[in-house]
Amino acid sequence: MDVFKIQGGQRLTGTISVDGSKNAALPLLAASLLTSEPIHFKCMPNLSDITNMSKLLAELGCQVKASEKDITLQVTDETISHARYDIVRTMRASVCVLGPLLARRGEVRVSMPGGCAFGDRPIDLHLRGLEALGAKIELDGGDIIATADRLIGATIFLGGPFGSTVLGTANVMSAATLAKGRTIIESAACEPEIADLALLLNNMGAKISGAGTPRIIIDGVDQLGGATHTVMPDRIVAGTWAIAAAMTNGDVKIDRFPLDHLLAVTNILSTVGVHINQTDASQDPKSCTVQVLSNRHLKPVMFTTQPYPGFPTDLQAQMMALLCLSRGNSIITEKIYPERFMHVPELSRMGAKLVRQGATVIVQGVDHLVGAPVMASDLRASASLVLAGLAAEGETTISRVYHLDRGYAAMEETLASLGANIQRIDGSTVVDGLPLVETVSSQKVVQNNS
Ligand code: EPZ
Repeated sequence: MDVFKIQGGQRLTGTISVDGSKNAALPLLAASLLTSEPIHFKCMPNLSDITNMSKLLAELGCQVKASEKDITLQVTDETISHARYDIVRTMRASVCVLGPLLARRGEVRVSMPGGCAFGDRPIDLHLRGLEALGAKIELDGGDIIATADRLIGATIFLGGPFGSTVLGTANVMSAATLAKGRTIIESAACEPEIADLALLLNNMGAKISGAGTPRIIIDGVDQLGGATHTVMPDRIVAGTWAIAAAMTNGDVKIDRFPLDHLLAVTNILSTVGVHINQTDASQDPKSCTVQVLSNRHLKPVMFTTQPYPGFPTDLQAQMMALLCLSRGNSIITEKIYPERFMHVPELSRMGAKLVRQGATVIVQGVDHLVGAPVMASDLRASASLVLAGLAAEGETTISRVYHLDRGYAAMEETLASLGANIQRIDGSTVVDGLPLVETVSSQKVVQNNS
C-alpha cells in the first residue's frame, strides 16, 4: 500500500485546475444503463471509483471506451442485471445502478452496500422511493432484488432523519424517467450533482423539471436516447485545494472552480480569514478562475454540516484541519454522518487539540502542528491529514493512500505543482505503514529508548 511522505512548511503558490466531480460522475455513468444509445462523457475524473464503476457497468453489459478524460458507454447486452457484492462492497455508490436497471430492464439484483469507515450508510429511502413507483423489493442473501413490469409515476417524499438522500434522489429520478405518468419527488436532494444528472437525462429525452430544488417533477417517457455530457467541476476537490492554499498561507489560482456551488464554504472561510475571489467577472461562477489568499492569523468559527446548500459534510474534515491553526476555539457539528470523525485521533497525533462530544468537536487552535506517521481511513479524513501535513513542522507520512485515490486524481502531483514537498512512496518498500528507511530508524529509536 502506497504511502505519502510530506515535508511541511512549503507555501503553496501557482495555478491548478479542478477535475470533474466524482459525486456527479458516478450517477451520470449509471444513467447510461437507461438507453441502448451511446453516451459520451467529457471531463471525467481519473479516479479509482470511476474505474470501479466502469468495471461494474461493463459487467452489466456496457461497452466502455475510455481515452484521457473522455469516456463513451453503450449498452450492448441487457441479460446480466446483477451488481455483485465484491464490487459493491468496494464502492457503496454502486447502488446508483439500482434505479436505471430497474426502469430499463424490469429487474435488478444489487448487493446491499455495507457501512463505511464513518458509520451506517442505509438505503431505506432508495427502496421506499422505488417501491412507491411500483417496484417489488425483496432481500435475499444480502442482495436486494427489485422487479417491476412497468414503473408507475407517484408522489414520493424522500426526506429522512438527516435530510434528503443524494444517491436516493438520483436513483428515484433516473427510474422515474421511464415510468408511466408523472412522478413528484418531495424533499429531493438539492445538491448540484442532482441538477447535473437531470441535465444529462433531459438531453437524453427525459422530461425533468425542478432538479436542484426540493421538489422535482418527472414526466415519464417511453425511451431515452444518446447524449454528450461534460461532467461538472468537483466542488469538494475545489474546496480541498482552497483549504490547502489557506493552510500554507499561500497564493493559489484555481481554474474551473465552482464558486457558485461553494457559497456556504466561502462564507465560513471568509469569517476565518481566507479570501476566495473570482478573478474574471465575465466567467460563469459555476466554473471560474479564483485566487485564494489568507490572513496571517486565522479566526475561529462555528459551523454545522447540512444538506446542500448548507456546509457540505464532505469538507468537514478538511475545514477541521484548517481550524486547528486558528487563534481560538472553533465548534464543528456533524449533522449528516454523526460518526464522521476518523480524522480526529490522527490530527491529534499531529498536535491538534480536539475534544469530541458526540457529533460535535471543539477545536482549540494551536500555534503549529507537528509532522507524524498517520493513517488514512476514509476519503475526506485522509485529505484532511494531507492538508495538516502540508502545514505541519517536520515530516508526515500517510499510509493507505488508496483511500485518497478514490476521490483525488494524483493528489501528490497537483500539490507538488504548487510547491508542496510531497512524494508517493511505492507500497512495496513500506512496512507497517512507514517507508522502510524510516522503519529501520524508528527501530533504532525504540532500542535507544528501551
Ligand atoms: C452522497 O452520498 C455522496 N456520495 C457522499 O460523498 C456525501 O457525503 C453524501 O452524499 C452527503 O452529502 C456520492 O454522491 C457518491 P445520502 P449518499 O444518501 O447519497 C441518510 C464522498 O466523500 N440516509 O445523501 O450515499 C444517510 O445515513 C462521499 O465523496 C438514510 O437515512 O448520501 C446520511 O445520514 C462520502 N437513508 C444522509 O441520509 C437512505 O436511504 C445523507 O445520505 C439514504 C441516506
